[in-house]
Amino acid sequence: MPSPALLTLACALSIATGASAYSYGAGNPQASQEKQFSQEFRDSYSILKHYGGNGPYSERQSYGVARDPPTGCEVDQVIAIKRHGERYPSPSAGEGIESALAKVYKANSTVYKGDLAFLNDWTYYVPDACYYNAETFSGPYAGLLDGYAMGNEYRARYGHLWDGESVVPLFSSGYSRVINTARKFGEGFFGYNYSTNAALNIITESETQGADSLTPSCDVDNDQTTCNALTNIMPEFKVAAARLNSQNPGMNLTASDIYNLMVMASYELNARPFSHWINAFTQDEWVSFGYVEDLNYYYCAGPGDKNMAAVGAVYANASLTLLNQGPEEAGSIFFNFAHDTNITPILAALGILIPDEDLPLDRIPFGNPYSTGNIVPQGGHFVIERLSCKATPISKAGPYVRLVLNEGVVPFNDCTDGPGYSCSLANYTSILNKNLPDYTSTCDVPASYPQYLSFWWDYNTTTTLNYPSGPIKCQEGDASD
Ligand SMILES: *[C@@H]1O[C@H](CO)[C@@H](O)[C@H](O)[C@H]1NC(C)=O
Ligand SMILES: *[C@@H]1O[C@H](CO)[C@@H](O)[C@H](O)[C@H]1NC(C)=O
Ligand SMILES: *[C@@H]1O[C@H](CO)[C@@H](O)[C@H](O)[C@H]1NC(C)=O
Ligand SMILES: *[C@@H]1O[C@H](CO)[C@@H](O)[C@H](O)[C@H]1NC(C)=O
Ligand SMILES: *[C@@H]1O[C@H](CO)[C@@H](O)[C@H](O)[C@H]1NC(C)=O
Ligand SMILES: *[C@@H]1O[C@H](CO)[C@@H](O)[C@H](O)[C@H]1NC(C)=O
Repeated sequence: MPSPALLTLACALSIATGASAYSYGAGNPQASQEKQFSQEFRDSYSILKHYGGNGPYSERQSYGVARDPPTGCEVDQVIAIKRHGERYPSPSAGEGIESALAKVYKANSTVYKGDLAFLNDWTYYVPDACYYNAETFSGPYAGLLDGYAMGNEYRARYGHLWDGESVVPLFSSGYSRVINTARKFGEGFFGYNYSTNAALNIITESETQGADSLTPSCDVDNDQTTCNALTNIMPEFKVAAARLNSQNPGMNLTASDIYNLMVMASYELNARPFSHWINAFTQDEWVSFGYVEDLNYYYCAGPGDKNMAAVGAVYANASLTLLNQGPEEAGSIFFNFAHDTNITPILAALGILIPDEDLPLDRIPFGNPYSTGNIVPQGGHFVIERLSCKATPISKAGPYVRLVLNEGVVPFNDCTDGPGYSCSLANYTSILNKNLPDYTSTCDVPASYPQYLSFWWDYNTTTTLNYPSGPIKCQEGDASD
């Protein structure tokens, strides 16, 4: 019990604070010493930002620009592309994981010690090999939950763009977990109206789809050697191997095994609420791991690959057409679903988040804008908003564009004169028309394949694909229903 004297003192202090000309905000003075704003940023560290694109979604660490439309503006068209939700590892990642785990298990002569003591009662989180590739459904970070939750959130944010009557197309690339994400999102967005008012369109991932695709490919000079050599370049992986080997002699883990075990650790939260494996590695080891993932995306699916901007130009160009046609001519809602490596080329085409120089392989350039955890975590999504704005003291009335990545506003390079640091549609258009590379010529797309994206204007309004027609197959990937 505080003494009456202390209470009196607290009261006097709060009155003094409340009366101060320097107090922040207009709130009532409070006796509590609780801070209005926490001063902690915990080394700016969260594991969620250091496992590349493997682990659960987290919002982008933004520049602080408000997410909601600026005063006087309203979103009148939304064009979004979402990566599938949290998933199990791919079959090929599974191979590396299982071989590293086999070395760990072979060493178990007695009981595990040190950082691996938890292994005495841990089991691998992939129930059997058939689950590889699939979206997860268990735990608080489950992929199916992510799809539904985002649909629900986007109904609140963009529901005003649906008239409550018309049929709205959803576009998914033809891959099992992507389709399942689109369906869950649709249920979250439309609620009881999903079965009748959403029309799922599935666009095959086949190369023969040419530019009329959410997953355009580019086989020209597709050099993967840099990416393939990345798994053991980090000195920290050797340190981790030495530590775990000394705690549990006989495992003989190498730097590549450590990489595979960290891959495994980074997927664990997709299926479970807790990962002991994440804690088996140090914060600095995770910083190294995260950078290896950044290198992977940068050199093999991002601006470090000379063809990727052209690949992303398909979507960048077609969305530019939607924006200029506007909601009356083109429609208001374009929700698309594909993969991480279909989003990174779009960002490259738009010229955002490009480092000043190619990412170095021999050191971490701290402050690097190409931080995968902020770009394509599982469930990551990129939104282009068309804003209809009234005049302000600094800008004219009219249409503006804002780019939003994982719920953080990303200014369009130098064009930030509009409300909320947006770019006028006219300037956005002229900048892109000048800069967008040409996909079909850069990537030698055969003339017999479609040469531009047309499904946004030429979609089906049937609901026949809204639900799966049968069980998901073992390790299902490409799918058409
Ligand atoms: C390791 O060995 C101990 C003792 O034999 C056993 O109880 C434990 O289940 C084993 N752990 C694993 C992961 O195999
Ligand atoms: C949407 O669902 C609600 C609840 O079932 C229903 O009352 C309404 O008629 C539906 N709207 C349309 C356009 O189907
Ligand atoms: C680890 O290496 C030692 C010495 O090279 C060898 O005797 C042992 O069999 C190896 N253990 C495993 C599990 O491979
Ligand atoms: C850009 O998009 C428009 C409309 O979708 C299309 O007609 C045009 O061919 C596209 N240009 C390129 C270079 O893909
Ligand atoms: C658009 O470009 C014009 C001419 O270059 C410039 O005056 C204007 O400030 C730009 N507007 C925006 C929003 O960047
Ligand atoms: C629409 O349906 C037809 C017939 O099933 C199919 O050939 C076409 O590819 C579909 N279009 C889209 C955009 O899914």
